[in-house]
Amino acid sequence: MTEREIWVLGATGRIGRSVAARLAEQGAAPVLVGRRRESLAALRAGTAGEILVADGTESIADAIRARRPGVVVNLVGNYGETASALVEAVLPDGHYVDLATDLSAVSHLLDRHSEAEAAGRTLVTGAGFGVLATEAVVAALCTDRSAPSHVRVDALASVAVESGVVGDAFASSIVEAITRGGRRYQNGQLVKARFGADPRTVTLPDGETVKSAGAPSAELVAAQRASGAPSVTVTSALAPTSPLASAVLPLAAALLSVPAVRRFAVRRMARASMKAAPRPRRHSWGHAVLTWPDGTTREGWLRADDGMDYTAAVVTEVALRLARGEGKPGAYTPAAAFGPDLAVAAGGTFILD
Ligand SMILES: NC(=O)c1ccc[n+]([C@@H]2O[C@H](COP(=O)([O-])OP(=O)(O)OC[C@H]3O[C@@H](n4cnc5c(N)ncnc54)[C@H](OP(=O)(O)O)[C@@H]3O)[C@@H](O)[C@H]2O)c1
Repeated sequence: MTEREIWVLGATGRIGRSVAARLAEQGAAPVLVGRRRESLAALRAGTAGEILVADGTESIADAIRARRPGVVVNLVGNYGETASALVEAVLPDGHYVDLATDLSAVSHLLDRHSEAEAAGRTLVTGAGFGVLATEAVVAALCTDRSAPSHVRVDALASVAVESGVVGDAFASSIVEAITRGGRRYQNGQLVKARFGADPRTVTLPDGETVKSAGAPSAELVAAQRASGAPSVTVTSALAPTSPLASAVLPLAAALLSVPAVRRFAVRRMARASMKAAPRPRRHSWGHAVLTWPDGTTREGWLRADDGMDYTAAVVTEVALRLARGEGKPGAYTPAAAFGPDLAVAAGGTFILD
């Protein structure tokens, strides 16, 4: 079904297992890359692909340089550190996709646009519920319109929890968010904001409600690029909304700015156990409200089911499109690479004003 080999890095993780199965369903036989041979072998049984054992970014990068896969799907996480080393190995021969939602990791990947364009390869970052669920709504609402003056996006994932440990990937993304603090665009400039700023209760189109607050999330940069708006804010259902958390976060950020403390916190959090729990709301929602200088306002939603399942569907769809050579050269967020309808192809539904 695909001409080029697809490698799934972090194949034994929660998203990786689902992506491996989805690629196999679509007739692709992915190469499953991970650090635990037995888990990879068990996973391989259902995908007909091959396994490759590699522990750590450098060892994975060496394997990429040796074998030159067509598409590399990075699900290892900790994108601030892993993405640049892996893209270095992937270019100039392969395409690359990851699930970064951290603002600086996504911005760094997008900074490689010219390099990817010159190589004729595509780099896609944020190819999950975050960034796509909000970016796609903004892009759809902006089609054939001038730039709005203000955009607000809300990333409102609903996710079932699997029993197990938090894991390195998720732990490092939480610690990174606390350390960095919030951001927003003001007069076209990215400026600091408080993590957990502007807490609100959002009423969803299906009548449920969800609490959400400001977060240093890559939805911000994607919404700004999709709209051209000088003023952009983002809230996330994953951000802390309680007054107690707001009071404690600045102190936690100061402590975590010390690298040794940060590494310790990631290690401890990664080992913390989580109990299985169903997803808290029926649907995950991406939401955007756009305001134009003449006062016109448009609002839109993207509805998906479980945020993790949707993420696996998005990154699988992107990997398959890249393997078929459908990507345009350069570095992009997902809707910028493939248009807002990618969100629908992955199983989402738009509700637009
Ligand atoms: N954009 C979005 O909407 C979205 C949604 C969901 C998740 N994410 C992000 O996607 C990433 C993956 O999520 P997940 O839930 O699948 O995480 P996960 O279950 O913790 O899986 C991470 C995978 O990476 C592997 N890994 C970690 N460090 C490694 C290393 N040094 N060398 C080799 N392999 C390594 C793990 O191997 P082991 O199995 O051996 O530990 C595991 O297979 C996370 O960064 C998460 O924050 C983004």
